[in-house]
Amino acid sequence: MSTVDLTARIPNNVDLAEDKRLLRALEQWQPNYLDWWMQMGPTDFQTRDIYLRTAISVDAEGWAHFDYVKMPDYRWGIFLAEPVADRRIGFGDAMGQPSWSVVPGEHRNVLRRLIVTQGDTEPASVEQQRMLGHTAPSLYDLRNLFQVNVEEGRHLWAMVYLLHRHFGRDGREEAEELLQRRSGSPDKPRILGAFNAPIENWLDFFMFTMFTDRDGKYQLLALAESGFDPLARTTRFMLTEEAHHMFVGESGVERIVQRTAELMKQETNGDVRALGGIDLPTIQKYLNLWFALSLDLFGGEISSNAASFFAAGLKGRYKEESYPDHLALDQSYRMSVLEDGRVTEVEVPLRNSMNEVLRDAYVEDCQRGVDRWNKRLQEAGLEGRLSLPSKRFYRHIGLYAEQPFDVDGRLLGKPEWERRRDEWLPTEADRAYIASLQKPVREAGKIANWIGKPPRGIKGLPFEYEYVRLD
Ligand SMILES: [Fe+2]
Ligand SMILES: [Fe+2]
Repeated sequence: MSTVDLTARIPNNVDLAEDKRLLRALEQWQPNYLDWWMQMGPTDFQTRDIYLRTAISVDAEGWAHFDYVKMPDYRWGIFLAEPVADRRIGFGDAMGQPSWSVVPGEHRNVLRRLIVTQGDTEPASVEQQRMLGHTAPSLYDLRNLFQVNVEEGRHLWAMVYLLHRHFGRDGREEAEELLQRRSGSPDKPRILGAFNAPIENWLDFFMFTMFTDRDGKYQLLALAESGFDPLARTTRFMLTEEAHHMFVGESGVERIVQRTAELMKQETNGDVRALGGIDLPTIQKYLNLWFALSLDLFGGEISSNAASFFAAGLKGRYKEESYPDHLALDQSYRMSVLEDGRVTEVEVPLRNSMNEVLRDAYVEDCQRGVDRWNKRLQEAGLEGRLSLPSKRFYRHIGLYAEQPFDVDGRLLGKPEWERRRDEWLPTEADRAYIASLQKPVREAGKIANWIGKPPRGIKGLPFEYEYVRLD
């Protein structure tokens, strides 16, 4: 068992006190991080007491502590999951060799890139969500937003630790740049598309935490297989926190759907907007948007990068141990490609299809969530259903990028696609309507009209609990 030092300026279970140089470097980065947090983190609310969970150990039981904290006082720490004795590389060309505790020279640049790309998403999402505190539908939701935000901040710490500890001067420079890029900035944007898209309202937020945080889960799961052991151990612990972010999204949309179902039954014409709710077609459009943006995060369907990450033992598959073969050399993956304006099927070598293999696992997981939402509609005796659009719809990366596929995956002509775009994606009018609903509810136990109450609160407390103290 590694010991946890909770009293240090930077709480950690990586013996930071033993490595003075590293400690000094991280202590120099810490004030810059706090400056970034105050500038780009949640606007206002920084002096408020919020009922937050803080990671204090890596035990499966009792790894977190719950109490009122002001966000700037949150104890952002560095925690790696416990090492696995005699851990071996589980896939690729180095299969069976001992995992690496230091970065192998030949993989240095690629590993740094993988870590920076993951690290960049963490502060990006905090920036995207910074205005939402002003319009939270309840104190419970406000608290969940801030919980997600402080933990994304901790995930940045997790990646910055790896950069400082294992990548020398380059790593320190990358760590600085992680604080300098800005979501949505024209000249210094965040690295990945979905992390530059605006999160304007709480429907965006719940779809983001459902679909985009779930991409994060699959990227972390693939990195948790990595032959670079510190990365595997870091991401394994991050997954513990990530589960709550996806819960926020999945249950948030579920509560909207439930409220919508109630209102649909009240209003005989089914005009949910007349009653101040969010109609199913609008929910579907936001779902389409964030699902498509999140699919892009997995990268191209056919990818030589993905093949070399796998070959090198850097990034594995979701649950790699569940596959009978870990070399993936003689197999192929059947996928649809666009050839001369027609969709045809081709066989692609499996290693080159690793992004698609991971994306499939992700889509299956998303479908499970959508099924759950649909159960609420079914229980209400309603006909309407939500669905995932085709993987080809509204893509910006890969084989289907910028091609006019509809939500059923049919290839249309560009003019028809443009004409029908408003059937599938939020329009200005939809956005204006959702914006009109964004009025804060700040009384404990109360909730906005367009969303249902959660069945339970946080850590065994009731929904009515004062999760954020505003006076
Ligand atoms: Fe994260
Ligand atoms: Fe997350």
